[in-house]
Amino acid sequence: MANVLLVGIATLDIIYKLDHYPPEDAEVRAQSLRLSRGGNAANTAVVLSQLGHRCTFLGVMADAPETAVIEQDFTRHDVDYTHCPRMTGRPPTSSIYITGAGRTIVHYRDLPEMAAQHFTRMDLNAFDWIHFEGRNVAELGKMLAHVRQLRPELRISLELEKPREGIEKLLHIPDLLICSRGYAQHYGQNQPEQFLSWMQKTAPGKTVVVAWGEAGAYGRTADGQICHSPAFPPANGLVDTLGAGDSFNAGLIGSLANRTGLPQAVESACKIAGAKCGLEGFDLK
Ligand code: FRU
Repeated sequence: MANVLLVGIATLDIIYKLDHYPPEDAEVRAQSLRLSRGGNAANTAVVLSQLGHRCTFLGVMADAPETAVIEQDFTRHDVDYTHCPRMTGRPPTSSIYITGAGRTIVHYRDLPEMAAQHFTRMDLNAFDWIHFEGRNVAELGKMLAHVRQLRPELRISLELEKPREGIEKLLHIPDLLICSRGYAQHYGQNQPEQFLSWMQKTAPGKTVVVAWGEAGAYGRTADGQICHSPAFPPANGLVDTLGAGDSFNAGLIGSLANRTGLPQAVESACKIAGAKCGLEGFDLK
């Protein structure tokens, strides 16, 4: 099993289940309310940890009482967050409205993004794999360069969920690029296999994976082999899709860190994402 460092944000998620999305000026009563720790890399860490990997999360933590929700969940899932820098402010917060299959997220953050100086303090010798959220491009560039300089052989994955200005200049550094369908579509790529070929021009020689919702996921190895796995929707129907992509990332990283081949890793990522959609939250066991 691998020792994985995950760099990104941890959020406070306030999740409301509603019958229907309220029109402006309406007052509606929610069916349920759940407070939970969220954030892409944080969600991935919690799932990876349940798959048996040792996980360390690195991201700015707010010096505020609400941070307890995040800390307790990391502790419960055995994710080490002791290296996180603390700053004055409140945790990035998402109000999430779930209406049947749809979900609407209102996100607020005023907490500063993590600077590379907090990352360069880490002892990287302990890790087999480092995963980054694709955000905060200037600092991300410094962190990626630092890893490559200190531990050239260390495996790095980068999540490309949303387009970010200038991020293309960094795509030559990680080994694995994990893209969302939204990222592909932003560039006018509506066919996953074509998107993977297009990515080979932008980031030659990289392993690229793209999750495509109900169509499963597609991968392309560094030497150009394409693979596909279907989705594995839960037998009991969709219960909660929030963080399905983050769970997919955990399945993928976990398998590849164990030296599984790409086709099998993409399949197990789809299975983990499917299992997550069949339950509320991230307690897979
Ligand atoms: C799900 C998620 C939520 C969080 C939001 C941040 O992927 O990480 O937990 O509130 O996205 O964009």
